[in-house]
Amino acid sequence: MEAIVINEFGSADEFYETELDQPQVTDDTVLVAVNAFSINPMDVAARLGMLPPQFSGNWKFPLVLGWDFAGTVTKIGQNVTGYQVGDRVFGSLPNDHADNNGSYGSYVVVAPETMAKIPAGLSFAQAAALPIAGGTAYQAIVENLKVKTNDTVLIQGGAGGVGLFAVQIAKAQGAKVIASASPSHHELLKQLGADQVIDYHQHAVAKSIKNVDAVFDTAGDIEDGLAALKAGGKLVTVGGQPTSEQLNSTDKNVAFQFTHATTPIYDSLAKLAIAGQLQIKLRTLPRSPDNVIDAHKTVEGHHMTGKFVIHVKN
Ligand SMILES: NC(=O)c1ccc[n+]([C@@H]2O[C@H](COP(=O)([O-])OP(=O)(O)OC[C@H]3O[C@@H](n4cnc5c(N)ncnc54)[C@H](OP(=O)(O)O)[C@@H]3O)[C@@H](O)[C@H]2O)c1
Repeated sequence: MEAIVINEFGSADEFYETELDQPQVTDDTVLVAVNAFSINPMDVAARLGMLPPQFSGNWKFPLVLGWDFAGTVTKIGQNVTGYQVGDRVFGSLPNDHADNNGSYGSYVVVAPETMAKIPAGLSFAQAAALPIAGGTAYQAIVENLKVKTNDTVLIQGGAGGVGLFAVQIAKAQGAKVIASASPSHHELLKQLGADQVIDYHQHAVAKSIKNVDAVFDTAGDIEDGLAALKAGGKLVTVGGQPTSEQLNSTDKNVAFQFTHATTPIYDSLAKLAIAGQLQIKLRTLPRSPDNVIDAHKTVEGHHMTGKFVIHVKN
């Protein structure tokens, strides 16, 4: 199969295209032809060789990076039920995917519990944007923070891939949403439902915001988030590692979320998107090594708006 790969860890300019053996479907998995894939900060960390061994321990070069995919089922293991050849699906590969089983390849082998069907009305590019970022936002807002009607939620890093989904999912839960972002993103955040937007460059968020019920930190600014949180409230972070002092806070609950999204979360995200409650803000480019390089450099700049998706084929 054709794959966009790296031959060593390093800069984004390492990407090139080559032919590799296709990953082999097993009795419990499905072979998916990739129609689109999205780039996450995790892809950048992987390319730089910064992921811990539980991700990269068995990788060899040439290495196919990428976790998020949307594609078409082409072969089904004999123990798998509920799917047919030709189904449109989206999902994310295991953290420790094999070195030829990244989503920058033409085919991926997927466990059915880590993917879902793409409903009519959602494109491959839109679906490819959802898994890691949407799954992270959904798990944080709905499952970890249990945001409910009339809660006030602060979302730090509201304009990123995770943040834009989190703002909209919190609104869908009926919450009042405050988001931090650069001024160039304020209008978009308001359009997507944020009730209040704060420029974190001007001053610490907690200078003007106090006593929120819940904080979702995607930016790694845990101390500022904690200062805005009410006593008894909960902060979930995916952007930084809490210190032991923060984790042991007596009056505030602090947790690092290691996201594990599976089919029910992907189905919920797709439903929200189809219902118009989750707009998917995309920058999309056609598949080529140069465009993967462009996407990596953009995501590495830490000011991405929404998601960067590489479109392979319709
Ligand atoms: N633990 C997990 O399971 C998990 C899962 C997914 C992601 N993550 C991590 O979560 C983080 C966010 O992921 P992502 O995909 O959303 O990244 P992203 O799309 O690259 O996020 C970019 C956004 O971060 C914002 N930002 C940067 N510094 C900020 C600050 N100090 N305050 C507020 N906003 C700030 C930028 O906003 P402006 O341009 O408006 O300044 C930009 O919109 C990354 O560190 C990623 O590795 C962890």
